[in-house]
Amino acid sequence: MTSKNSIFLNALNRKNTQENIPVWLLRQAGRYLPEYMKIRSEYSDFFDMIRQPAICKELTLQPLRRYPLDAAITFTDILTIPDAMGVPVKFIKGKGPIFSDSIIKNSSIELKSKDAIKKLDYVFEATRLIKADINVPLIGFTGSPWTLFVYLFYGESPKNRHEIHDYLKLNSSKTHSYLKAMTEVMHDYVHAQIHSGADCIQIFDSWGGMLDKDYEEFSLMYINELAKNIPSNIPIILYTRGKTIDSIIESTSINCFNLDISDNIDHHIDKSIAIQGNFDPSKFHSDTDELENLAEMVFEKYKNKNNYIFNLGSGITPDIDPDKVGIFLEKLSSLSS
Ligand code: CP3
Repeated sequence: MTSKNSIFLNALNRKNTQENIPVWLLRQAGRYLPEYMKIRSEYSDFFDMIRQPAICKELTLQPLRRYPLDAAITFTDILTIPDAMGVPVKFIKGKGPIFSDSIIKNSSIELKSKDAIKKLDYVFEATRLIKADINVPLIGFTGSPWTLFVYLFYGESPKNRHEIHDYLKLNSSKTHSYLKAMTEVMHDYVHAQIHSGADCIQIFDSWGGMLDKDYEEFSLMYINELAKNIPSNIPIILYTRGKTIDSIIESTSINCFNLDISDNIDHHIDKSIAIQGNFDPSKFHSDTDELENLAEMVFEKYKNKNNYIFNLGSGITPDIDPDKVGIFLEKLSSLSS
């Protein structure tokens, strides 16, 4: 890799000595891009689309063709795991993911570990195809066991907190057995992605914020279990939503955090961790002058930091104009070069 293309990995290792700011965007591929929508319209089912490795490769490359990005992320989803463990998922327009079954509806729902990893081979094949075609590092990813348990419990995106908390109180050992079963499949899932070419792994704990004092028991413990088995030369990034990272930093060996929009990167930038995220994607609605000013502010603030990666605090939403994203990224890139 050329030096331009290693700044992302250097920053993950807190060793980016250049002024260039490494950049990638949460959900950089997806519905805000017309070229994504064109391919998406050929499939009624999202999973039918992502089971095609060549399509996953194309969707991964789309944002890289448009923008000066320093990392690619495999086009797939965190919900591949419950799907492969026998609980299929559909995406219904306007409703998000809908599971065929859920713990709320069926308390004896079972996760099948046998052959789950074989059913995920399309992700590894996509990883290999992507890796052969890019000149920037590739991010592999998984949901956290807790976040996937939340989907399994509600069968959709959660609308309240109390039901899952009531369940945890009465069914703690059952919950641990679901979390353990998913952690074991994820262990193989992450290793196969690394083996197929992923240069680092991001763990999405998007629903970690539903937990408070029980976060360590039901979420962090399993994230740590996964992390400790990942080879030490593969950086790991943890995305948390709805939590500040102070207490997490002390209880994990993970050294890169992707902040959501509610935390503040400046509170953490001088700690001995790498850091990315926090930027509110709705700022991409700003006009050209404002976007260029924002890029200048980011550059001036972080150009001398060895541990900073520009990224968002939540995924890009479909209402964002891709040209505005381009204006911001081109400006940031022109300042660095
Ligand atoms: O470039 C990329 O980052 C795309 C790859 C990617 C997708 N999902 C594709 C996708 C990644 C990294 C994800 C992660 C993901 N998926 C998370 C963690 C990040 C976060 O936002 O908290 C979560 C919670 C999911 C679960 C999920 N998948 C939901 C809630 C939805 C529906 C609503 C939505 O945000 O779109 C999905 C579907 C999904 N995953 C789409 C894409 C492009 C849209 C599906 C469609 O086109 O119909």
